[in-house]
Amino acid sequence: MTAAHDFGAWMKSIQASVEGALASFLPDAAVVPTRLHEAMRYAVLDGGKRVRPLLVFAAGELFDAPAATLARGAAAVEMIHAYSLVHDDMPCMDDDALRRGKPTVHVQYDEATALLVGDALQSQAFIVLANADAEPARVLQMVRLLGEASGSAGMCGGQAIDLDSVGLKLSLEALEQMHRLKTGALLRASVLLGAWSGKPLDAAEQQALDTYARAIGLAFQVVDDVLDATADSATLGKTAGKDAADNKPTYVSILGLEASRALAEQLRHDAHAALAPFGDKARRLRELADLIVQRQA
Ligand code: IPE
Ligand code: IPE
Ligand code: MG
Ligand code: MG
Ligand code: MG
Repeated sequence: MTAAHDFGAWMKSIQASVEGALASFLPDAAVVPTRLHEAMRYAVLDGGKRVRPLLVFAAGELFDAPAATLARGAAAVEMIHAYSLVHDDMPCMDDDALRRGKPTVHVQYDEATALLVGDALQSQAFIVLANADAEPARVLQMVRLLGEASGSAGMCGGQAIDLDSVGLKLSLEALEQMHRLKTGALLRASVLLGAWSGKPLDAAEQQALDTYARAIGLAFQVVDDVLDATADSATLGKTAGKDAADNKPTYVSILGLEASRALAEQLRHDAHAALAPFGDKARRLRELADLIVQRQA
């Protein structure tokens, strides 16, 4: 079996088990309020690359974490991510009609439902994680991590800076800060949720993993900016060219396409370097760094 084939098969198997976990952790669409529950399932199931769950499982593998705990971490972070997309697409934010190749939640349902879907997914994420079968102190640590990564010091904070920055020419430092918060924080949390589900990490391992997580977290949004400017809507499953149309500062608008691609490549290199102490056991994390930087959608 070639390495690429092996990675592809691994991804497919994790994606399938995460789909099952998400389906089981989401409220049944037949339960009242049925329209809200149906819309929550619409927002989460059957779509997306599942990069955050893949990171949870890859980091978990490194520390021999039990699959059941990883499934909860993976589902929780994916629910937060899906909620962030539902709100990101609303008219008061990016005002997008297409997501994961389907009409966005506020288009398919209505704005109030989209707002509530995001709210309820956020709560559901913490319920799923709080019920993880692990030491209570570990669970608490994971709940705190996900809260910090999602809130005003993480994703929501980054989204606030993003909205405040329309039409501005941000400095490179300010742009990096925005990207680290709005996207990097949840990707970093995915890696740490996976790792913390297994054997305890020593300080050096924690440091190495954090360096990896921060590098891929920033790289992910740099590549998202590049794809927004270079790919088409059918490939992306969301409206291409939206950043320039909305006058958003991005890596492409500030550094240009070539320098943005070079930065993503540098971050991929940094991510690989950080994993060196783990040897072959970090293979999946290495392959995910490659996927994040080399993806076409
Ligand atoms: C898109 O995330 C939004 C960003 C944080 C850049 P993804 O590219 O992971 O979207 P899905 O989950 O695959 O749809
Ligand atoms: C959104 O960034 C990041 C989130 C926290 C959802 P974008 O606005 O660039 O994400 P896309 O391009 O719409 O997926
Ligand atoms: Mg946005
Ligand atoms: Mg958007
Ligand atoms: Mg984008």
